[in-house]
Amino acid sequence: MRTFGLVSLAPLAFLPMGVWLASPLAQQPVAQVPPINVVHPIDPGSVVLPAEDLTVGVTRFSFIAYGDTRGQADGRELQRDHGRIVDAMIEAIRSRASTPFPVRFIVHSGDAVTSGAAVEQWNVSFTPLIERLTREGQVPYFVAAGNHDTTARPLGDPLRQLALRATLAATSRLNPAEGSPRRLDGYPTFAFGYGNAFVVALDSNVAADPLQLAWVAGQLESIDRARYRHVIAVFHHPPFSSGPHGGPIVEPQTEAIRRLYLPLFRRHHVRMTITGHDHFYEHWTERYADGAGEHRFDHLVTGGGGAPIYTYRGEPDLTDYLATAKPLNLEPEHVVRPGRTEADNPHHFVVIQVDGDELSLEVIGIGPNPYQPYGTARVDLVDRKS
Ligand SMILES: [Fe+2]
Repeated sequence: MRTFGLVSLAPLAFLPMGVWLASPLAQQPVAQVPPINVVHPIDPGSVVLPAEDLTVGVTRFSFIAYGDTRGQADGRELQRDHGRIVDAMIEAIRSRASTPFPVRFIVHSGDAVTSGAAVEQWNVSFTPLIERLTREGQVPYFVAAGNHDTTARPLGDPLRQLALRATLAATSRLNPAEGSPRRLDGYPTFAFGYGNAFVVALDSNVAADPLQLAWVAGQLESIDRARYRHVIAVFHHPPFSSGPHGGPIVEPQTEAIRRLYLPLFRRHHVRMTITGHDHFYEHWTERYADGAGEHRFDHLVTGGGGAPIYTYRGEPDLTDYLATAKPLNLEPEHVVRPGRTEADNPHHFVVIQVDGDELSLEVIGIGPNPYQPYGTARVDLVDRKS
């Protein structure tokens, strides 16, 4: 049996070349292990998110959201367009550092790489870019799983397990750790609180899974809403979109999100969903009323992190969805439609600003022309009473 240092590699021998995974065993001191076959955990940098109790009084800050960073040459070179996004993010972080709204964390809504089981795609193409954000940008970074990361296959499927283990290895030092109260063990599913905002991230590839649904529900039921004024859900498959993954098509994950999660989110007055999957920017707002009053629920599709750009395909048919939620008198508004040409849908990310009970956002495009999806790049997410 061939050994390296203190660790035998026999337990990993069942894995094909290129997919050895970092595990507690593999993280022991084994300097001689060839690095190419191990998914390296992404370095979180020196600035980690403070413990929740330490930011109780924080009500003014920003965070960045984006997704779909997979590139055309994943595994061979850095993600080129994602690299341009990272440049612009570092500029946005620096320009806000001395304002009342510094960027405190970044969330990625999935499809980090093209094929999550491929070690080199993480190590060569994705990880060095994220380590620029954590080291140069000095901002904590969180990743939800997309279908290209953990696959869209069922929970126990061996290909999902392989890709899941690579995804968990890459993000093991970024997302809340296994065993913590804010982590669903064995899933890329987690939550965290910062200031007056609470973020829950789930794996929408398995949106119909009852264990994950129960965990998310438990998180929402247990948090202090007097503190956490804004609850934000991050996942990959948008509830509504008008691109190749939406319009007249309802993917099974989207159906499960609409049927299982949106009612849960409305029950808990979740303020916003952040998704991707369709590679452009799109914005929906639902308004509803219940015993606690009138509520606004924003849905951002921000899949512009560097993956091939998509275009508008048509409006989704929401008849069935609206019928299931009839008592609430839902009024979905399609606030921003994606463009009909690639030039109208530049790669981009979103800076969301929290100012007490009010949210606003700025969409930062990196195309040749200014990107102004609201007529401007900024919008307040507030319904002002006239
Ligand atoms: Fe996707």
